[in-house]
Amino acid sequence: MSTINKSAAQFLAPIIANKRIGSYHQIILGVGDLVKNCRPGNFIAISVGGDSSRMILRRAFAISRTSDSAQYGGTIELIVAPHGAGSRWLASQSEGTELDVVTPLGTAFGIPTEPVNALLIGGGYGSAPLFGLAEVLKNRGCRTDMLLGASVGEKIYAPMEGKRSVNSLQIFTEDGSMGEKGRVTSRLEAIISERAIDIIYSCGPMPMLRAITEIAQANDVIHQCAVEEAMACGVGICMTCVLPVKDETGIISMKRSCIDGPVIDGSSVCWDLVGKNPAEF
Ligand SMILES: Cc1cc2nc3c(=O)[nH]c(=O)nc-3n(C[C@H](O)[C@H](O)[C@H](O)COP(=O)(O)OP(=O)(O)OC[C@H]3O[C@@H](n4cnc5c(N)ncnc54)[C@H](O)[C@@H]3O)c2cc1C
Ligand code: FES
Repeated sequence: MSTINKSAAQFLAPIIANKRIGSYHQIILGVGDLVKNCRPGNFIAISVGGDSSRMILRRAFAISRTSDSAQYGGTIELIVAPHGAGSRWLASQSEGTELDVVTPLGTAFGIPTEPVNALLIGGGYGSAPLFGLAEVLKNRGCRTDMLLGASVGEKIYAPMEGKRSVNSLQIFTEDGSMGEKGRVTSRLEAIISERAIDIIYSCGPMPMLRAITEIAQANDVIHQCAVEEAMACGVGICMTCVLPVKDETGIISMKRSCIDGPVIDGSSVCWDLVGKNPAEF
């Protein structure tokens, strides 16, 4: 029997805080003791629009960081990019509103047992799960460097307290409005070799994850990526989130990114076949 989602629960989570940061909303939710089961890479599925809403599908958001304090108990942080009806509704909710949520869902990033040199790469709101991951890696004694990229500076999410969890942070924007002009992959090969990187963790748009996989494979570096395929049910029932994945024997099968992911070995994904009909394989 699968052990995925074994600690997930559906419950009402109060919004503790909702703050606008650049293009995003940083939302803190009270989740009580369940916080102990939330790992970097896991996600939350939130019911949006209120009781009479026609938006029947829950929306998925990565758990960015967790905290357990005497004042609020267990909390999780989300980074929401308001763009469609559901995420805009979420961003407009006030402190004290209770959200109907299911969490923690999906696979988590694998944490090395020994200290290693880790490179964390985030695109846009894809930086969300990486700050919590950086804290875990730091406690494991790993050196942790981070690259964040976006089209424009406003879409870089890099909170001050998050920066303290990493040894170095480099920012890339396509228009050069923040950090270096270019993409996170522009100097990736050189960074891997200069910093003797053992493992790359990434989260962001699919073309970025694909480009990182190609460079990681060419340089013999492990690459764990958190994919953000569109998800309807989020719990393994509907098959809308499937990805073509190859096993060690070369056999390709469609894996559900909500329960076999979102964290997945980048080298196992058949990036050329993503979005294609399996009959064409
Ligand atoms: C694991 C995961 C983590 C994510 N983390 C974050 C995050 O940290 N921050 C963030 O801002 N966003 C995150 N996203 C993206 C976020 O879920 C979407 O942006 C959000 O669902 C948009 O909802 P909307 O109503 O605003 O947009 P709309 O585009 O109006 O609606 C999108 C919703 O429609 C449904 N849908 C659309 N197309 C399909 C399809 N092909 N198959 C099935 N269902 C479909 C899905 O329920 C989807 O959530 C994440 C997505 C995933 C899968
Ligand atoms: S979202 Fe329904 S199976 Fe993955």
